[in-house]
Amino acid sequence: MRWETTRDAGELAERAARRLLDAIAADPRAVLGLPTGTTPVGMYRRLVSACGARPGCFGDVSTFNLDEYVELPAEHPASYRSFMERHLFAHVDLAPERARLPDGNAAAVRRESPALSLEEALAVECLRYERDIAAAGGLSLTVLGLGVNGHIAFNEPGSHHDSRTRVVELAAATRRANAPHFPGAHVPRRAITMGIGTILESRSVVLLASGAGKAEAVERLREGRVSEAFPVSALHRHADVTVLVDRAAAREDHPWRRVRNRVRRRVGGLARRIGT
Ligand code: GLP
Repeated sequence: MRWETTRDAGELAERAARRLLDAIAADPRAVLGLPTGTTPVGMYRRLVSACGARPGCFGDVSTFNLDEYVELPAEHPASYRSFMERHLFAHVDLAPERARLPDGNAAAVRRESPALSLEEALAVECLRYERDIAAAGGLSLTVLGLGVNGHIAFNEPGSHHDSRTRVVELAAATRRANAPHFPGAHVPRRAITMGIGTILESRSVVLLASGAGKAEAVERLREGRVSEAFPVSALHRHADVTVLVDRAAAREDHPWRRVRNRVRRRVGGLARRIGT
């Protein structure tokens, strides 16, 4: 696991966008796993400014989003489909059939097989999503955000590290964190998420964490213990992971940490001088 600390959220966005652009340049048929949330908004803004005015910039890239709410209309402003349209799809030359999200209403499946119940149709949708990722050649690079409770995509604490795309119940902490996107309404209780096993099969992974609210989860990840109670810790099992954190998430801007780090640096410098 490679750790990179950036000055601020802007630099984090810049580096994340650069990783995606490099992946596309290296392989115009790259298959990208993409996140939603507040953290990647700056990354998408930079991608759009680099690619928005250049037809063909996305080559034959395919994208697969990590997750989507269940039973939320696709056109709802808080759906991840709407998020992706707003922040990326509407602005770049990416063929709609290659810009994929799981469908939390399994609309196509239900159209094709009206006799299926919603639950059955969702199960088929999850299987199809896995099949389509594999058919595209597997994920080359997946960018992840980090939930306050350590979730990745919507894999909540307790998720198996070999889990696949499936319907999950959202944790109370996640629903609270996402409530601002649903003013005056309830956050959906369920979502379809890529599994941790699916994510671990991506050839490279970049994890983004920005802001002091993520500091605790980042610190826990740094400790290195792998457990199903802390989903993001599964990434320790992957050979090519970059963790991009800004200073706030790395806790370097907490006053007492600044003091402690300064003391450590001074003691280290003194020790070196005494040693020479
Ligand atoms: C949601 C998404 C996650 C995302 C997380 C963090 O729960 N399902 O994929 O990583 O939010 O979002 P934010 O960047 O807004 O903190």
